[in-house]
Amino acid sequence: MNFSCSSCHKTYTIPDGKLPSTKKLAFPCPDCGHRIELNLGDNASGDAATAEKTSVAAAPTSAPADDQQTAEELKNRILSNLSGLPSIPQIVFKAHEIMEDPNSSTSKVAELIETDQAIAAKVLKMANSAYYGMSGKVSSIQHAAVVLGDKALGELITLAGTSSLLGNKLYGYAMDSGELWRHSMTVAFGSKIMAQRHMPQLENDAFSVGLIHDVGKLVLDRPVLNRKSLFDEFMAAGDKTFLSAENRILGFDHAEIGYDICRQWQIPDTLAKAILYHHRPSAAADDDLVSIVSMADTIANMAAAMSMVGHIQSGIDAVMYMVDDTVMERLALGEKDLGVVMEAALDAVEKIMLEIAPS
Ligand SMILES: [Fe+2]
Ligand SMILES: [Fe+2]
Repeated sequence: MNFSCSSCHKTYTIPDGKLPSTKKLAFPCPDCGHRIELNLGDNASGDAATAEKTSVAAAPTSAPADDQQTAEELKNRILSNLSGLPSIPQIVFKAHEIMEDPNSSTSKVAELIETDQAIAAKVLKMANSAYYGMSGKVSSIQHAAVVLGDKALGELITLAGTSSLLGNKLYGYAMDSGELWRHSMTVAFGSKIMAQRHMPQLENDAFSVGLIHDVGKLVLDRPVLNRKSLFDEFMAAGDKTFLSAENRILGFDHAEIGYDICRQWQIPDTLAKAILYHHRPSAAADDDLVSIVSMADTIANMAAAMSMVGHIQSGIDAVMYMVDDTVMERLALGEKDLGVVMEAALDAVEKIMLEIAPS
């Protein structure tokens, strides 16, 4: 989306895939300070995307000439071919299983991690990052388990186990290598911070779901790239989100197929549901995990959009956000809180990224 400041006329671009899923975004022009208001239209809401999905069935002409598959056929083909997707290592699920067992101990988790050298090395690196406050002091997984405790160890295992999965470049979504990983970590830490405030029992789940909420983009990247001209044409029509383009052109979106992937991975339905609804929280208004992850995603997208127009350096407090009011209420968040969550999440990601790059 291109826009310009009505006062100094400087023009800015936010890539379509980076637009927040909110209806409006307002911030001071980084150049002259004049207030810029962007109206992203009704298409910014997931509900609108769902409405468009219905119209896809009646508009088969939107399918590309070289690929006449129905949405259902395309989805089934993707899901039956998940072997091409590096999966979350089984060790991550096993570690979480042990941690949830009240009769188990942290040292058992540490023993398990030590059986996978790649994961163990990453866990150690991140345990020594400034975020976990142990800079250079943790020398073994057993040591990390003792000084950091269960929760932090669980986070580290999840981070270490997903970094390869989320680190690749996405050509269809125009995301450089590491970009999805950084976004996913921001959502994970944003989710964790919001859960800690009022729903501490959801802290671990919020972190894990936040980290893999966009897993659907990994499998849709190729189909999106194959239909690039259709996506470009749709987005050029103006005021559209990439999510509505997915629904219109593919017949389903990355949140929907992300849910299906989680079911195949046997991730509990409560967690998979938060992935399914992360762009349309109003469809699951009574679900706290959905509210947390969708809000964290909005905050992360806004942070990315603002850093692109150079605003993030000039302070985030002055930014006014228009987000889903019911979600704000449910999470007991005020406008100022969003800036606080954003800053804390970005800070956590920066500190960890200094120690580990996805591989
Ligand atoms: Fe998403
Ligand atoms: Fe996202």
